[in-house]
Amino acid sequence: MTIESMPAQRLFVTEIYSGPLRRDWQSLNRQLLRECLQLQHDDVAGQRWSAKSYPGGYTSYNSLCRLQQISPTFARLERQLNRHVAAYARALELDLDGRQLAMTDCWANIMPRGVVHSLHLHPLSTISGTYYVRTPRGCAGLKFEDPRLAQFMAAPPRRSDARIEHRPWVTVPAQAGRLTLFESWLRHEVPPNPSTTPRISISFNYSWF
Ligand code: NI
Repeated sequence: MTIESMPAQRLFVTEIYSGPLRRDWQSLNRQLLRECLQLQHDDVAGQRWSAKSYPGGYTSYNSLCRLQQISPTFARLERQLNRHVAAYARALELDLDGRQLAMTDCWANIMPRGVVHSLHLHPLSTISGTYYVRTPRGCAGLKFEDPRLAQFMAAPPRRSDARIEHRPWVTVPAQAGRLTLFESWLRHEVPPNPSTTPRISISFNYSWF
């Protein structure tokens, strides 16, 4: 075999999972939408925290972050998500050694026009993700950063038409009824919502017990 004919090996792969929750997601989303808007209205502690840490938007991240334990609707969502998280863990070939991946946190995010969620990761968790409740046309997706970026130093940039797996940033579109899962150490952000309609999503963490 000549050097030229040797295939490149793909190592240290970062896998992101994306798919539809289930076929009949609309009725669940109608109820989730109602409850998210109600939370935004009623959750005074969340309103205060959001004013400081999520300017222009509302998140229950710091006030009501275990919605799966207080709302039967969010508990239904949790049961649906469990199947996807299990499939993702299998695809990642995680050796869970008989332990369970279980949802620890689940919170609502409402992003009116112009609101951003800057680059972050989810410490102390294993798998994280987002489920989309309302995604106005043109709204931002979830933008992931190559976790090796800080080590590239003098490496040349990638061509603008490089294959998706070679790009340093990749945006997974946000679409109502669909979810995106990622390993919790992977940094990500939500660029500004350009739409006058708020973008509404539910984020969650799973840990290994
Ligand atoms: Ni996040």
